[in-house]
Amino acid sequence: MFRFRSIITQHFLNSLLMLAFVLTYVYFGITFTKEMENDGEMINLAGSLRYRSYKLLAITQQSYDPAFHRESALLPAREEIDRIRSAFAYIENGLLRDAGERSEQIRQLQSLAVRWESQVIPLANQLVARRDVSSPVLVRFKDVTDVFVRDVDVFVTKLSSHNRADVIGFNNRNIVLVLVFLPMFVQIAYFSKKHLIRPIIALQNASELLMEGNFSVRLPIVFRNEVGLLTDRFNKTAAALEELFITNTNYSQTLGSLNSASSRMISMGSRGEIYQFACNTAHQLLSPDMVWLGLVEPASSRLKIVSCVGDEYNYTDELAITCDDAPTGNGPVGMAIKNREPRLVSIHDDVSGVWIERIQRHGYGSFLVIPLLTSHGCLGAITLYSKQPDFFAQGRVELCQIFANHTSAAIEAMNLLHYVVFALARAAEVNDEDTGNHILRVGDYSALLAEEMGLDSTFVEQIRFQATLHDVGKLYLNSSILKKHGPLTPEEWELMQRHTTNGARIIGEHPMLVMARDIALNHHERWNGSGYPAGLQGEQIPLSARIMCIADQYDALRNSRVYKPAIDHATSCAIITEGDGRTLPGHFDPEVLAAFTRVAHRFDEIYERLA
Ligand code: C2E
Ligand code: SIN
Ligand code: SIN
Ligand code: FE
Repeated sequence: MFRFRSIITQHFLNSLLMLAFVLTYVYFGITFTKEMENDGEMINLAGSLRYRSYKLLAITQQSYDPAFHRESALLPAREEIDRIRSAFAYIENGLLRDAGERSEQIRQLQSLAVRWESQVIPLANQLVARRDVSSPVLVRFKDVTDVFVRDVDVFVTKLSSHNRADVIGFNNRNIVLVLVFLPMFVQIAYFSKKHLIRPIIALQNASELLMEGNFSVRLPIVFRNEVGLLTDRFNKTAAALEELFITNTNYSQTLGSLNSASSRMISMGSRGEIYQFACNTAHQLLSPDMVWLGLVEPASSRLKIVSCVGDEYNYTDELAITCDDAPTGNGPVGMAIKNREPRLVSIHDDVSGVWIERIQRHGYGSFLVIPLLTSHGCLGAITLYSKQPDFFAQGRVELCQIFANHTSAAIEAMNLLHYVVFALARAAEVNDEDTGNHILRVGDYSALLAEEMGLDSTFVEQIRFQATLHDVGKLYLNSSILKKHGPLTPEEWELMQRHTTNGARIIGEHPMLVMARDIALNHHERWNGSGYPAGLQGEQIPLSARIMCIADQYDALRNSRVYKPAIDHATSCAIITEGDGRTLPGHFDPEVLAAFTRVAHRFDEIYERLA
């Protein structure tokens, strides 16, 4: 897959080339030096031939001098002859050392030697033996020696010119050597630049970009060598860094979004809104294929799915999960809630259970259960499903956990608000003869009317629990007034009317209890402006109070009071819709009244259920 041309191999070959060059150069040098030595020696010897020939002539002539002792002349002559002979032998040896191109010179030398032996030596011997000064032999000896010496000169000249040719040959060889190797060296330099230097500079520049945070930098892999390999590693490292960076950025962004979602959630008006928002947010930000939120019903320990997103095939309808020791409580969700720790299940896992069949049937590859923990227990769980088996990486589990904790906190805060509101509402009821269910009933009636009027679920849920505080201002009243068996005196009535403003004072200004305050203050105002405490009319009266007005009166009519007996459903409805003098249809918002007439039978149901 990766055809690899190693730079190391290439450089090894380059070094071999260099070595070849140097060795050739040295070899040429040594041979040349040897040739020069040989040539020099031969030229010297050939020169000495000339010198010795004349010396022999001189010695021979000297031997004719009467004053000169003949025998003493003979010895040097013989010595010269021997020396000349050995000079011939040496020169011949030298020439034979590179016989190939020297054959011509060898032949010349041999003919010189032959002439020396056949012409010069016999004459010299003759002359030395005869001592004949005037002999024509001497003249001939001189002539022959002259001719011999001249030929020796010619021979020496030839040797010298051969030597010059050797020098030129050496230079030419060097020039050829350089010419042969030069292109190779140029090639090596070019190769280094292209395959090594340029890619390394590119890598260096790219590394600097990477250091500055440009994670998208990549280099083309041009050569399949070590630098190519390095470039490939560089690219992979940059890609890994980029992915890490993106993951980290995504993580931070998701964390930021979850964080702002959590702050919104904590100030929401209803629990249903929190449940739905939690599922929507988890679905949007963590992108599972489905997510549901389930809460444990304390009485039955069953898990009730309260919101869901992405449930295309009514998957949640099939779920029957409990948080006890029954088999329905031993699935991942039950275990996560019981053990209060998240559970990540992948279809790879070696697990069994009825639920695994369901998961597979719906094509999910993994799911993550996060229990909704509070400091007092576990509210339930958020469960996210993905079609991918490895969807929930560690970072995502952490994010889910963080988000689930925020969700629990928001739900718990809302639970606490409900709890305290009911506690306060119950406190205001202590002086009533009633069972205390009045507050629950008016909540249900109001919610019923709001729903019938098409108001949103948050409004419906809010009015259901905030309506319960409508008479909290009666806490200010002495029980003698509240429990008075007859009509109230004008002073008592004056005090009684203040339960509205006092209720508003008790509830105060908290933004989560605006509706409760509105209701407490305005539930005795009348549409036609005849109510108290301010005599507001029409839409000046908050909608929640207009709704509460009917709910409150229906329940007061149905129930017995110390000052009045219980009245049946039909009569109560007639008093509200037709009036009885004290109550008039003009007291009510016509839309609320219309809604009441449509669902009046369900008021009876609620009353009977919570009697
Ligand atoms: P509540 O008993 O909770 O009654 C709430 C409202 O229901 C009354 O507001 C009134 O609009 C309606 N309502 C109650 N009983 C009747 C009834 O027999 N006929 C008709 N048509 N409407 C009825 P309201 O009148 O502003 O009274 C506010 C509160 O004042 C009452 O709350 C009750 O606590 C007290 N109250 C009212 N009338 C008397 C009374 O004659 N004797 C005593 N002891 N308390 C009374
Ligand atoms: C369980 O039942 O605990 C697993 C959840 C599921 O079936 O979807
Ligand atoms: C609600 O869920 O808000 C209504 C019931 C209750 O207040 O407990
Ligand atoms: Fe009241």
